[in-house]
Formats: sequence, C-alpha cells, structure tokens
Amino acid sequence: MSKATVKAPSNIAFIKYWGRADQRLFIPLNNSVSMTLSSCTTVTTAETIKGSSDDIQIKFYGKNYQKLKADSKKAINTFNLIQRVRKIAKSNLHVRIRSVNNFPADAGIASSASGFAALTGALLLAYGLHDKFDDKSEYSRQIRMSGSASAARSAYGGFVELLAGDNNQSSFTRQVADEHHWDLVDLIAIIDIQKKHTPSSEGHEAARSSPFLNSRIDDVKKRYPKIIKAIINRDFCSLGAEIERDSLSMHAVMLTQSPSLMYWEPGSISIMKDVIALRDKYGIQAFSTFDAGANAHVICQKKDAKKVQSHLLNNKYIKSLIYNEPTSGAHIIHEHLF
Ligand code: DP6
Repeated sequence: MSKATVKAPSNIAFIKYWGRADQRLFIPLNNSVSMTLSSCTTVTTAETIKGSSDDIQIKFYGKNYQKLKADSKKAINTFNLIQRVRKIAKSNLHVRIRSVNNFPADAGIASSASGFAALTGALLLAYGLHDKFDDKSEYSRQIRMSGSASAARSAYGGFVELLAGDNNQSSFTRQVADEHHWDLVDLIAIIDIQKKHTPSSEGHEAARSSPFLNSRIDDVKKRYPKIIKAIINRDFCSLGAEIERDSLSMHAVMLTQSPSLMYWEPGSISIMKDVIALRDKYGIQAFSTFDAGANAHVICQKKDAKKVQSHLLNNKYIKSLIYNEPTSGAHIIHEHLF
C-alpha cells in the first residue's frame, strides 16, 4: 500500500477565469493569472487500500471530520477524479483520503483551489504516478480536469498563469515569477462565511448567456500582456488598476447572465468604497478583487499592509482579516494525517 501527503495553497486571481470553452475538460475561455496565498492551505493524505470502497473524510474550517457523500457537484468531481487516476494507474485498489482545510470553505476564498490541487497531487502519488506529479504542467492539467480549473494555478508558487489553450494539451499552468519575486499582500476581508449561493461550476455553464461575455474575453486578450509585464516589472499601480477592473468586469458578466448571479453583499460594496477612499484620500495604493463570493481580497504592497489593515478594521461589515503573502506551490510533506 502506498501513502502520500500533499500541502497546497489557495490562490487569488488578478485576471479571473469565467466561462468555459469545453465543459467536459474544463478548458477556460480566457487566460488567467493569480498569486498563491500563504495562509489558506489544504493538506491531503491519500493511501491505497485493499477495502471494498473508498473512504473519504474532510475536515473543514472549525468542524470535525465528515464523510464525503456524493451529494454535490464537488463531491461528484472528487469521485470522478479518483476513477480517472485509478484508470491511468491501471489499479483496482480503493483509497483512504483525509483532508484538512485551514480556512472558511466556499465563501469566495477559492477553497476548492487548494482542495483539488492537494487531492490531485496526493492521489497521483498514492497510485504511483510520480512522473505526472513531478511534471508540473501535466500535474496542472490533471488538476484542471478535476473540475476546478482555478486550482491548476496552485501547482506552482508565486505568480502563476493558467493558459486557456484550445485543447487538453495546450491548457495548462506556468509560473510567471516565484514567491520571492514581489512582496505583495492579500488581506482577505471576511464579511460572510456562509456557503456561496451558486457554485462557480453552474456559473461557468451559464456565462455565455451574458451579452457582455464576448466583450470581456476580447478585453482580457488585449490587457493580458500588460498585466504579465506589470507583474514582471513589479509595477504595482498598473497591476492594481487592472486587478480591480478585471474583478468588476467578471462581476458585470455574472450579474448579466441568466439566471443573474449577484455574489456581492452590502459589505462587499462598502469595502470597495473604502479601498477607493484609501487611494483617493490617503494616497495608499490598495485594490479590491472578488471571486465568486462576498468576501473581499484587498491587494497592497507589504510596506502599506499595516495601514490598510487598520483602515479596513474600521469597516463595520468586516468580521476578520486573513493576511497572505505569496507562497510556494503544492508540494509533498512527510507528516501524514493518519
Ligand atoms: C471566480 O470552477 O475554478 O474564482 O468553484 O473554486 O472550483 P471553484 O472554481 P472554478 O472557478 C472559479 C473562478 C473564479 C475566478 C478565478 O479564480 O479565476
């Protein structure tokens, strides 16, 4: 029997992926780029077993271990992923999996990014597919096919892009710069740790119903090279403006698709305005961005993080802040969960 444990970070997209070119292979319509997050991680141990069924338990933030039941899209994706890895490995062994998440799940903090990156890695290793784990672009394809394409960006550390490509081979992630390149900070402002009302997967499927989707895709194509250049040149004013604009552009698509998706809450808007005030009134460069959830990610430079933090803590909607710096990508650890 073989056992492996992988620790993977979550990530925050600066240019977001919204809408799929291929629903079966989870190929995105546009390139995306993100920063990995030091304080939002998942650890997963997988061990092949001789039993008659898979034994999967997950420990979400603040909860006890729970058995995974096939009652959600994510659970179905997990079982499909196990089947796929088993098939590639030509194995008929079942698997025992334990997974621990250290931050609130499903609230726009990309918990599935760290979750599916760690799970895919641990499964590939437990089934002896070390070559697929060691080849990071192949590992990222395997993560994308798990159903959570944004998770593919967690294969690497630092600043990472997911190339949309136009087929399974050309849709993979690569590193733009490592975690030591730039001391940016993501302050995640938690206003609501309830589960999001519509999972991203349903949202992606309906994205084409927005009349603005194609304009967004064209716009991202034009802006994308500038954004990569801003990361490489550590040009925060240019990058920050693009981060905020891209979040608004993705939410414009979400709001105008059918059915309409409004992930923001009053607290989200309040934080957007606070961040604008930080720039306009106090000259502090900070920018907000939102995934498919109400919680804000406020991106700033490390030298300004304390000031941004104390300003945000005056916002009555914010329950807590999670401080993140860029960190390393998914990697093997030797402390197993069982
Ligand atoms: C809005 O299908 O990758 O976070 O629901 O987290 O599995 P999960 O997400 P996925 O789409 C999320 C897209 C996004 C933007 C982004 O991270 O690129």
